[in-house]
Amino acid sequence: MTNVEGYLKKAAKLVDETIEELLPPASMHPSSVHTAMRYSMFAGGKRVRPCLIMAAHEACGGEFGDRNIALASAAVEMLHTFSLVHDDLPCMDDDDFRRGKPTAHKAFSEALAVLEGDALCIYAFEVLARTGRIAVITELAQALGTGGMIGGQVVDIESEGRGVDFKTVEYIHENKTAAFIRACVRVGGMLAGAPTSTLNSLTAYGNHVGLAFQVIDDILDEEGTTEQLGKDAGSDREKGKATFPAVFGLDESKKYAQELIDAACRDVAFLGVRGDILTALADYIRTRIS
Ligand code: IPE
Ligand code: IPE
Ligand code: MG
Ligand code: MG
Ligand code: MG
Repeated sequence: MTNVEGYLKKAAKLVDETIEELLPPASMHPSSVHTAMRYSMFAGGKRVRPCLIMAAHEACGGEFGDRNIALASAAVEMLHTFSLVHDDLPCMDDDDFRRGKPTAHKAFSEALAVLEGDALCIYAFEVLARTGRIAVITELAQALGTGGMIGGQVVDIESEGRGVDFKTVEYIHENKTAAFIRACVRVGGMLAGAPTSTLNSLTAYGNHVGLAFQVIDDILDEEGTTEQLGKDAGSDREKGKATFPAVFGLDESKKYAQELIDAACRDVAFLGVRGDILTALADYIRTRIS
């Protein structure tokens, strides 16, 4: 059995050191925005997306600690943090806590939260450019654009309080969350030089764990506490969000998450022991409590 906690720790250490090295110092002018960027980046996220990049890369024969992987991992965590800072804004989900701390617009101001999010997104692409891999830049730009995360976020906001059907909630979750997670897994494979057939399997794995990730996030919003999650529990129900539990109830949502995780494990079974960490991460995504 792979020690997933140990792997997450190892991956988090490498990505945190790289982010520390890459981010402008808080004292650099204009220091307010650099302070806010560091505040949100180091507030204590799980670093799941960098971990998925590293795990996919190793599963495809890449070496842990490879410089391009460190850069890509730091960049995706900046992109993810940007998405959270904007997701929490009063005009979006209007949440006060994130990663166990006041959200950026609460700690600083709305204007600074918008601008630090913009800055993280733009800087992430500068960092990705340092890999010299155009396909990687394209992959992440497409996953985050209107055909991915932004598209999902738009329909998420427009569906609030509407009582949506399965097709809509599936569209939202596949786009706002799974598209990005799938891209992370694929980037790990691409940077290891994986052949198309392997990338296709990683795509399927990424889609399955990505959708499961958001279904579990919805379940945790219903069942977890604010203290445990580090973000406002019960926020979805309060806003009438389009979630899996809202459409199917908690039991069916849990069953569905398990089916998605089982499918993800089947997707990478052909890798044998090299895929063990991907299987363990899929299981962690289902059983996590924050
Ligand atoms: C939260 O992501 C947003 C979703 C897509 C559900 P994470 O649960 O990975 O948040 P952090 O990075 O650990 O704070
Ligand atoms: C967030 O979905 C997805 C993003 C693209 C940021 P949620 O709105 O459910 O994420 P949390 O629960 O606030 O972390
Ligand atoms: Mg949201
Ligand atoms: Mg939210
Ligand atoms: Mg949520």
